[in-house]
Amino acid sequence: MKIKKEVIIACDFPSKKELYAFLEPFEKEGLKPFLKIGMELFYREGPSIIEELKVKGAKIFLDLKLHDIPNTVGNAMKNIGRLGVDITNLHAAGGISMMKAARIGLDEGAMAVGAKSPILLAITQLTSIDEEALKTELLISSPLKNTVIHYAKNAKEAGCDGVVCSALEVSEMNKLGLVGLTPGIRLEGDDTNDQKRLATPTFAKEAGSTYIVVGRSITHAKDSVVAYKKCVFDFET
Ligand code: C5P
Repeated sequence: MKIKKEVIIACDFPSKKELYAFLEPFEKEGLKPFLKIGMELFYREGPSIIEELKVKGAKIFLDLKLHDIPNTVGNAMKNIGRLGVDITNLHAAGGISMMKAARIGLDEGAMAVGAKSPILLAITQLTSIDEEALKTELLISSPLKNTVIHYAKNAKEAGCDGVVCSALEVSEMNKLGLVGLTPGIRLEGDDTNDQKRLATPTFAKEAGSTYIVVGRSITHAKDSVVAYKKCVFDFET
């Protein structure tokens, strides 16, 4: 699959009021950025937020990180497929059967409305899980890196298109034939906030990321449109 490199803005806003205020200057310039809608906004506004943004012509990454039994995830993904989003995701820890059911559900849902099936990404290990938590809380004795690669292989086998990963892991994911979506991006000189393993758009591009997710470097910038354009210039061109 040939996929274009794109910058995705993480729309971590409490409600659509703040989101639409944020988008106004982009609309004035005729820009239609790729948007990530996560649990915070989706659980507040419901699926109508996706329909409204699609009407505005936005591409959407619906970041809900599904994880349940295969039947439930398959049926939920059918409904996500019907929303016409461009990317969505799940936890690889749910297992191969769950991921296969997700793929089938997404394809069926998209087909029912004549939409293209969304790109399906797997989360291998959350960045909030470290070696210590893996061993002592989850009782997984393999090194974290091995679990990431193993889960990525499972995702590939199940029909996922890619994984959410750091810029440091992306080349290994590309070797497996998976696209990499990289969060934890900062423009040089920006506040690191709570992120630890950060990359710049240029570093992520050179490392082989297909998508970068940028939140606060754009949403908290003095001029969000300028910051977005800089990310696009550094990553997409
Ligand atoms: O503001 P910032 O650029 O740090 O936001 C990053 C976005 O990417 C947030 O929406 C966050 O939930 C998400 N994310 C992340 N790290 C991961 C997975 C997702 O920062 N490993």
